[in-house]
Amino acid sequence: PRKIIIDTDPGQDDAMAILLALGSPEEIDLLGIVAVAGNVPIARTAENARKVCEVAKRPDVKVYAGCDRPLAHTLVTAEHVHGKTGLDGIELPAPEMPIQDQHGVDFIIETLRAEPAGTVTLCPLGPLTNIATAFQKAPDIIARVQEIVLMGGAYFEVGNVTPAAEFNIYVDPEAAEIVFKSGVKLTVMPLDCTHKVLVTAPRLQAFKDFGNHLGDVVAGWLDFFERFDVEKYGSLGGPLHDPTVIAYLIKPELFSGRFINVEIETGSELTRGMTVADWWGVTDREQNAMFMGDADAEGFFTLLTERVRRLA
Ligand code: BDR
Ligand code: CA
Repeated sequence: PRKIIIDTDPGQDDAMAILLALGSPEEIDLLGIVAVAGNVPIARTAENARKVCEVAKRPDVKVYAGCDRPLAHTLVTAEHVHGKTGLDGIELPAPEMPIQDQHGVDFIIETLRAEPAGTVTLCPLGPLTNIATAFQKAPDIIARVQEIVLMGGAYFEVGNVTPAAEFNIYVDPEAAEIVFKSGVKLTVMPLDCTHKVLVTAPRLQAFKDFGNHLGDVVAGWLDFFERFDVEKYGSLGGPLHDPTVIAYLIKPELFSGRFINVEIETGSELTRGMTVADWWGVTDREQNAMFMGDADAEGFFTLLTERVRRLA
């Protein structure tokens, strides 16, 4: 199985990504989860990550708290999308499992140094603050990363938090710039891809049909999370962003995209956090990212449902 670190700001869709990883031990070896400030402040994301592990009956997973604010700007959160707790939709008990003492950034650095070079994949599902901080603090680890597969950005779908920017990149564009310029093999799941995987009524029902606690928890999350986007976009269901990252690691054939140049706008007040993606190859700027534009939604939900069911 592929060794990964999930860097996350749960978030109902982050939670689904964690469940998908835990339900796929043949393909995924989850070395640890690092929380970052994003959808909600760090205290909440660190707590939510542990709640998710406990829902999956995996209190043994190591959960770390990382950075509590973006590199250069004040934190922008998204309670309007995810609810006050970040994981609204179903009441869950406070986690009993511990948060690790080590800072999340130091865990990332230490792990990349300890494991053989080129064997650890980073999976950021929130703002890129922890990853960029680790790269700044310990540049020697950059060459040791196998790949970064992240959820963030947009091209045709442009933005979801401002007219020009997707939330994860918008919250910490300076961090995103460091990651996109790092030279690490980079695979990006932008809104262009995640807006194809919609939580339709039958897909939500498939989780309810588990007929157990886990199914109820997942349905509670997705029902809550989905409502926001349906009201906003009037589509068939809300997009389920973050699990696309894990699904890509398990079944890359579910996704297609282009290897292109992607630059991050950090300066402009109007378009800050925009991923300027050279989809049509109109510049000679160096290609730095596999940028996904399409997803097999049926295949994705079949995989997600099957793997999460295993955890029950
Ligand atoms: C991203 O922003 C967050 O609200 C979601 O968890 C996802 O990572 C989508 O723009
Ligand atoms: Ca997220």
